[in-house]
Amino acid sequence: MHDRIEQAADLLARSRNAIALTGAGISTESGIPDFRSPGGLWEIIDPGEFSIDRFLQNPGRFWRIHLDLKASGHFDLASAQPNPAHYALARMEQLGVIKTVITQNVDNLHQKAGSIEVVEFHGNLLRATCIKCRALEPIGDVEARVATGEEGTPRCRKCGGLVKPDAVFFGEAIPPKALSVSHVQSQRTDVLLVVGTSLQVYPAAQIPLSVKLRYPPAQVIEINREPSALHKQVTDVLLLGSAGEIVQRLAETVEERIAAMAC
Ligand code: APR
Repeated sequence: MHDRIEQAADLLARSRNAIALTGAGISTESGIPDFRSPGGLWEIIDPGEFSIDRFLQNPGRFWRIHLDLKASGHFDLASAQPNPAHYALARMEQLGVIKTVITQNVDNLHQKAGSIEVVEFHGNLLRATCIKCRALEPIGDVEARVATGEEGTPRCRKCGGLVKPDAVFFGEAIPPKALSVSHVQSQRTDVLLVVGTSLQVYPAAQIPLSVKLRYPPAQVIEINREPSALHKQVTDVLLLGSAGEIVQRLAETVEERIAAMAC
């Protein structure tokens, strides 16, 4: 492992446009379950509950399920805190190494850890949005209206449209700005750091494939507990284990490299 961290740190320290792609695995050490590991969220709740079609059939039912899930403690994002992996990525941004974090997560933990350039590929579950006028509001305000019985089916304060969490549901499009920024960054990057994602869900999983199709292909570093679905096709340096431990060691080694290069 030590040699591979040294190899990954060399790639990052010498990179010009390194970016990160993260998934739920970077947040499990913050107490938020991922989706497909044993005990993951999709073992607790049917992913179909997060499809836009089922939401539109009965939005009030969705919001009750959302509140029950939050009350169960399985997915309480508001109280979750960043872990060493989030802070290490923010540190590598401060060092000028990581230019952008593209995250599939909706937990806001990269921003809480201090990362500035964050692309919310699947939205952000701390906000709610009106599906008609796109107005945004804190999800806590909507949860309160549902929990107190004020509104069984929460409505937009501005236009009366239906309100849903500002996260991308299955069957919904990726936010256009997130998609375009991710595309530009993928075309520009020379080193892609993949952390805590099984790379099973598209179009996010297309990002590591696209950076390998370019000439010269970008180098891909993967940090995961288990190898991703695409590791044989895309991964140049595979680091298996805890994201919290490995990303922190990687950031420290990168910082040492940069200091040595400055001398
Ligand atoms: N350290 C390192 N890797 C971890 C850790 C950890 N502490 N915990 C979990 N992992 C790894 C798992 O081994 C797995 O490879 O993180 C990955 C999580 O994979 P998924 O559960 O499939 O999550 P993700 O890839 O983010 O899912 C993508 O699917 O359900 C949709 O919208 C949802 O954004 C999500 C998308």
